Amino acid sequence: ARPIGVAVLGMGNVGTEVVRIITDNANDLEARVGAPVELRGVAVRDLSKPRGIDPSLLTDKPEELITRDDVDIVVELIGGIDPPRMLIREALQGGKSVVTANKALLADYTGELATAAAGAKVDLYFEAAVAGAIPVIRPLMQSLAGDTVTRVAGIVNGTTNFILSAMDADGSDYAETLAEAGRLGYAEADPTADVEGYDAAAKAAILASIAFHSRVTALNVYREGISKITTHDLESAKALDCTVKLLSICERIVDEDGTQRISARVYPALVPLAHPLASVNGAFNAVVVEAENAGRLMFYGQGAGGAPTASAVLGDMVMAARNKVHGGRGPLESTYASLPIAPMGDV
Ligand code: NDP
Ligand code: HSE
Repeated sequence: ARPIGVAVLGMGNVGTEVVRIITDNANDLEARVGAPVELRGVAVRDLSKPRGIDPSLLTDKPEELITRDDVDIVVELIGGIDPPRMLIREALQGGKSVVTANKALLADYTGELATAAAGAKVDLYFEAAVAGAIPVIRPLMQSLAGDTVTRVAGIVNGTTNFILSAMDADGSDYAETLAEAGRLGYAEADPTADVEGYDAAAKAAILASIAFHSRVTALNVYREGISKITTHDLESAKALDCTVKLLSICERIVDEDGTQRISARVYPALVPLAHPLASVNGAFNAVVVEAENAGRLMFYGQGAGGAPTASAVLGDMVMAARNKVHGGRGPLESTYASLPIAPMGDV
């Protein structure tokens, strides 16, 4: 089969690991896809930084890379709304499948991008956008597509969980632990997104949209961060046999008259030490899904960091590449918004 060409946009924490795996695992990827997977180029902002790859692959013009005829799949790992929104839309309209980890963008623009993907009959995948390495998007979209999900709740931000766990364990300093989360590649380029709950709210919007087949944006999510939590708060929690976790909770609410609404909220909460979420520490995440027929499911693993996130990106890339080789497409536009459920906003 003809090779599948991949363009990677961004070579930071996640992009570096994605490029490494594509390069190191070329033989395995070819076997799994049914065709060679070839890196066509990597877009970065600063061409002078040392990257450890063939310099001829590097460009600071992502808009040119995504239009190349020999590129089949675009992997967006720049982050933020612009330029990724424009780049992804153009790539999709140009017939390229897109894989992205960009929750900030997806929280508000999944509808627009899914429409572009549907129009061009290509894939738009984003497993890495929620909870790093943990498969949670695909189980919600596919494995549970025949069930009725009623609740999705858990810890979906690694940075804040890393900070709260360290403060709880040994009274670590908030600012120092946040800086450490940045060095370890967990935090967003602007860590305000993590500590003020914007990142968890974006993920809640994505989870609620998929779980409840609706359109929920970050603005529909009630949000509080952890920047005001002190070691004193954690000590007080301990005295109550609890700890503090930044929870993200999405619920389908059915009123007495049968009207369905969605509640989505992010806030630091007291979690009893006996609860499974209390023992999720460091940059680990956990998501508990409740569905009418499946009952309760729990997903747990590394929620942030270059290599864990790259694992989820590569999974999506292999799926998109297989579809290019063998035909077929991933979840359709109707997956995202087939029900007219109104988000409730704050509760
Ligand atoms: P980084 O900030 O580490 O990397 C961003 C990369 O994008 C850098 O290589 C940067 O170039 C490049 N870049 C920025 N602007 C442009 C531009 N205009 N044109 C071309 N390249 C550009 O981010 P991360 O790798 O941490 O995150 C990437 C994405 O993945 C984000 O959407 C993030 O939210 C998401 N994500 C991150 C996770 C993590 O644990 N880090 C986990 C899950 C999702 P240069 O190197 O030259 O500065
Ligand atoms: N900054 C994010 C976090 C990265 O800490 O969870 C993973 O999405």
